Amino acid sequence: MNNLDSMPTLTTPRLILKSFTVDQLETVHRWLNDPELAYYDDDEPPTETSSTLEETKTTLARWINRPLSSGIIDLAIHKQENDQAIGFCQIAHIDTYNQRCDLGIVIGHKPDWGNGYANEAVQALIRYCFVELKLNRIGAEIYEFNHRSLKLFKKLGFQQEGTKRQYVFKDNQFKDELVFSLLRGDWQE
Ligand SMILES: CC(C)(COP(=O)(O)OP(=O)(O)OC[C@H]1O[C@@H](n2cnc3c(N)ncnc32)[C@H](O)[C@@H]1OP(=O)(O)O)[C@@H](O)C(=O)NCCC(=O)NCCS
Repeated sequence: MNNLDSMPTLTTPRLILKSFTVDQLETVHRWLNDPELAYYDDDEPPTETSSTLEETKTTLARWINRPLSSGIIDLAIHKQENDQAIGFCQIAHIDTYNQRCDLGIVIGHKPDWGNGYANEAVQALIRYCFVELKLNRIGAEIYEFNHRSLKLFKKLGFQQEGTKRQYVFKDNQFKDELVFSLLRGDWQE
């Protein structure tokens, strides 16, 4: 795939985004079984979101071994100061012909929410997508009730371009998913 020769390692003032390692199984397992994270980032029935350790092992192996040709890049987010893993992110649906991709991010270590870590990580991902992958469009889809994520992506210049009406069933109600994008032309480094 063009412009995608090796898994990136991205650094920001406080973070390093790099490939997962097998020794992160327990941490990843905790995050994948956290109902609050799933509430904001998953449309499975709440009763089906938990996975066994074996299933998490398979997921983690997929994240680590995914070929670059898959058009998906999974990275763990670590604090530089102590190398603690605090979350993960994905550049998905990388399409080098149409020059677009989609972004996803989770700060799994919830005490770190609100400290600007996701902002820093997404800035680095945006830069990588536009400068290294030479893409033109980055998409993000966010549930209407995910106020932190909405604030994060809007602050970074993403514009809402659509609404998937009543797309998810949460709290016994249908809720919208909002569709955002950032175009290369909108982006101010
Ligand atoms: C969404 C998420 C990635 C944000 O991570 P984070 O490190 O807390 O994000 P940041 O601190 O960089 O930015 C969050 C913004 O929301 C604001 N915020 C915090 N709590 C808030 C709340 N209850 N309501 C609205 N905004 C809030 C913060 O002040 C910050 O804005 P600011 O930069 O203007 O101060 C994190 O909360 C998370 O992992 N959530 C669960 C998974 C998820 O929702 N992923 C995204 C799916 S689209």
